[in-house]
Amino acid sequence: MADDTRILLEAVDVLKQYQQYDTVVTAVNRANLKIREGSFVSIIGASGSGKSTLLHILAGLDRPNSGTVTIRGHILTNMKPDDLARFRGEQIGMIFQSHNLLPQFTALENILIPTMLSRKPDLAYAEHLQKLVRALGIGDRLHHLPSELSGGQQQRVAIARALVNMPQIVFADEPTGNLDRANADEVMSLLLSVRKEIGMTLVMVTHDNTLAEQAEVRYRMDNGVLSPILD
Ligand SMILES: Nc1ncnc2c1ncn2[C@@H]1O[C@H](COP(=O)(O)OP(=O)(O)O)[C@@H](O)[C@H]1O
Ligand SMILES: [Mg+2]
Repeated sequence: MADDTRILLEAVDVLKQYQQYDTVVTAVNRANLKIREGSFVSIIGASGSGKSTLLHILAGLDRPNSGTVTIRGHILTNMKPDDLARFRGEQIGMIFQSHNLLPQFTALENILIPTMLSRKPDLAYAEHLQKLVRALGIGDRLHHLPSELSGGQQQRVAIARALVNMPQIVFADEPTGNLDRANADEVMSLLLSVRKEIGMTLVMVTHDNTLAEQAEVRYRMDNGVLSPILD
């Protein structure tokens, strides 16, 4: 029998449909997924295949029409909005294609935003922050505004922001989609080395096969249907 003891996230029969004028679009068609603690999972699929919709549901940013998402025994799909928001802030990190940094705040202020709602500064946390900043190579950029940073640096700041609360799980939606190949490769390898260092679980959606192939566990999304890629 499979060992389920280290399953961090489980999605069961997740269905998401949108009404577009007079047709119903099935963005996610009864997806099932189990994610082990500490693993790196990729989901590859063409544009419009439902990747972002699924990722947002797994991360509790959106709710399915039916089906459940459970993270460490917490059923996200049943939680009240306030509880879900708190859970997300403490347990979940998100990295988007466009970094969504707040333009009026410095890199460091942006990185610290998630900590204002939850985690109280302590020593372990300060060490974690230092480690992140060092690993991502943004130590000399912390007091700059986003507009003073390159695209790759902005995305590295966004990664630090996603990881600052030491989340259980990090979801990345085409995290290097706005970068050129060289920058994309650099940001990806930084993300993966930070992941190793702090042992986090990462779920990444991408349409880039080179990126998807770096994951230990791979899924394909095709027209709303999620299936494992077996090698
Ligand atoms: N808010 C929405 N309202 C209506 N249709 C949507 C919405 N979000 C996504 N869709 C539709 O769901 C399908 C999957 O979209 P999406 O999850 O964004 O795919 P991907 O991230 O793989 O490009 C598409 O057909 C898209 O048009
Ligand atoms: Mg998308």
